[in-house]
This record gives sequence, structure tokens and C-alpha cells, in this order.
Amino acid sequence: MKYTKILGTGSYFPERVLTNKDLEKMVDTTDEWITTRTGIKERRISDNEPTSVLAKKAAEKAIEMAGINKDNIGGIIVATFTADTVMPSCACIIQDLLGIKNNCFAFDISAACTGYIYALSVADSMIKNGLADNILVIGAERISATVDWTDRNTCILFGDGAGAFLLGKSDEPGFRSFHINADGSAKRLLTLDALGTNFLSDRKVLDIEENLLKMKGNEVFKIAVRAMAEATAKAVESSGLRYEDVDFFIPHQANLRIIDAAAKRINLTYDKVIVTLDKYGNTSSATIPTAFDIAVRDGRIKRGANVVSAAFGGGLTWGSTLFTF
Ligand code: ACO
Repeated sequence: MKYTKILGTGSYFPERVLTNKDLEKMVDTTDEWITTRTGIKERRISDNEPTSVLAKKAAEKAIEMAGINKDNIGGIIVATFTADTVMPSCACIIQDLLGIKNNCFAFDISAACTGYIYALSVADSMIKNGLADNILVIGAERISATVDWTDRNTCILFGDGAGAFLLGKSDEPGFRSFHINADGSAKRLLTLDALGTNFLSDRKVLDIEENLLKMKGNEVFKIAVRAMAEATAKAVESSGLRYEDVDFFIPHQANLRIIDAAAKRINLTYDKVIVTLDKYGNTSSATIPTAFDIAVRDGRIKRGANVVSAAFGGGLTWGSTLFTF
């Protein structure tokens, strides 16, 4: 056993759709501005499903696709910055919701929109080091509970959702490279200073500034364009494969202009880029597993495809991976 592979994938979005037209009635914005600046047309909002429940529904689909008995899952790692509670971790809540009792570790990872790449890299190392044979890696966010619905700079960007991979050990190539990085000196560009989303979703009783997500979008944008493009190229260059061997690019879905720049950096044509932000917006750590799951289930991505993925987010953090599905 030399590799870690994706055995199954799953995704879940809450039902309520919030369109750009709906947002026109809430803040001073237009569908045209949002579409041309970001590529987003609509997003999903969770009215009463906590992050853990979104995650559980995505995880069940990944477990089903993998065809693995849930009691053989040795670990759960959840990437999220919108956990239900600060403690217990979202991963422990999900373990309980899934009814997994035996020999299973569970913990959360916080790296904002890069969280899923970080979580995959940790799970890959743990499987290779023999700490577990199968690990459930989930990216789940209920960002709507943290958004300032009067701030047009940020409220148009985000959505809720969850995606999951079930990873397992394999003799065939799976994950081939990881690259993760951070720059804490830019930490105040993207912030959420307060507590868990179960508490925040009831924030009408506590409407204080620290409960709201804030972002200096334009400054973040400039760093994101460069970091995403460089991380994407690094994942390919350190994988042992060539640019022309890459079949698909699964970028973090923050902004179509950032995605375009990263795709150009590795000479990828647009048909190889999986874009979901038009329908779901930026669901932070959930964008990569949900986009991948959607493309697997609609038949675009098949077993054996070489996939490069990259993300950028609060921290500031960024990272990338190349894997063979
Ligand atoms: N509708 C209309 N006008 C708006 C809106 C809106 N929704 N939002 C901002 N504007 C205005 C601004 O006030 C500004 O007006 P001014 O020139 O009169 O001051 C003008 O539009 C331009 O604003 P910018 O912020 O410069 O717009 P920009 O082209 O940079 O787009 C955006 C903003 C979409 C946020 C972009 O900067 C971006 O995508 N940033 C990166 C986001 C990202 O990658 N974040 C990391 C992941 S998220 C995470 O980790 C949780």
C-alpha cells in the first residue's frame, strides 16, 4: 500500500435558493454587478439545518458510493470555519449523527476556504502512516449564519453546503502531491471574530460586530489570483505528471476571474475546469468536494482522471493537490 485514493464522494446543499435578484431587494446591488464581478448567479441558504447535518447528508452519499461499512471508518476530519459549536467539534457531532462508535478519531481543521486541501493532506498522511485505513474527509459550511446581510461587499458571495470524500489505502496512484501554505501577517483581511454557528444563527438577540464575517475583498483578490495560480502550478510540477496530463481542474469557487487566472497558468482550456459557483456561490471548504462530486456523478470525471485542485482563503491560507481518481 503506497497511496491514498478516493473511494466515494458525496455532496449536499440546503433547499432554499437565494438569487441575485433576491439580493437586489436586500442591498444596493445588481444581478449584472454580481455576475460580471464574480460569476455567481445564485446560492443556497440553510434556514434550520446546522453545519453538522449538511455534512452528515454529504457523508452518507460518499459512504454509499464507496460501498464501505461505516464501522470500518477509522477517522473523520472536517474542514469548516462555521462549525455548529466551538466544542464539541463538528467532526464529533457528525460521528454521533452517523452512528459510528468503534475506533474512530474525529477532529476539525480550520483553514477557511483552503480547509479542504489541508484536511485531505492530513488524511493522506494519516492513512500512509497506518493510523487508519479509511478516513471520511468533509468540507461543510453554514456561512449564511455569519454573513452581514447589510454588507453588499460580502453577502453576495457566500452560500451553504457540504461535500465529502471517503479516502482509503490503495496500491494504485491516488494523491500524488500536496502543497499547503499560509501568511498570518495578512490575518485581518478576512475575519470572523466570534463563535459557533448554532449560536450565530440566532444572532438577532446578539447583534454585535464580531459575529459578522468581514473581508477586504479587493486586497484579498490580488493575493488570491497570484497564490491560486502558483499553487495550481506547484501541484502539477511536484506530482511527476506534465501539464498536458491534467484532465480536470477543481478550483475553490470564490470568483470566476481568480479561477480563469489559475487555469491559464497551467494552460488549461475551459472545458477542463469544473465551475459550480454560478449555482452555489462560495461555500468555502465545501466548494472542492461538492464540485468534484457533481462532476463525478454527472459523468464528466471518470476513474483514472488526473485532477488538480487548489484553494485560497482566510488566514490567509492557500494550497493545492494533484490526484488520480
Ligand atoms: N454590488 C454593487 N457594487 C458593489 C458590490 C455589490 N455587491 N460590492 C462592492 N461594490 C462596489 C464597491 O463599493 C466599489 O465601489 P467604489 O469603487 O465606489 O468604492 C466597487 O464596487 C468595486 O469594489 P471592489 O471591492 O474593488 O470589487 P472587486 O472587483 O474587487 O470585486 C470581490 C469584489 C468580488 C469581493 C473580489 O474582490 C473578490 O473575489 N475577492 C477575493 C475573494 C476571495 O477569494 N476570498 C477568499 C476565500 S473566502 C474565505 O476564505 C472565507
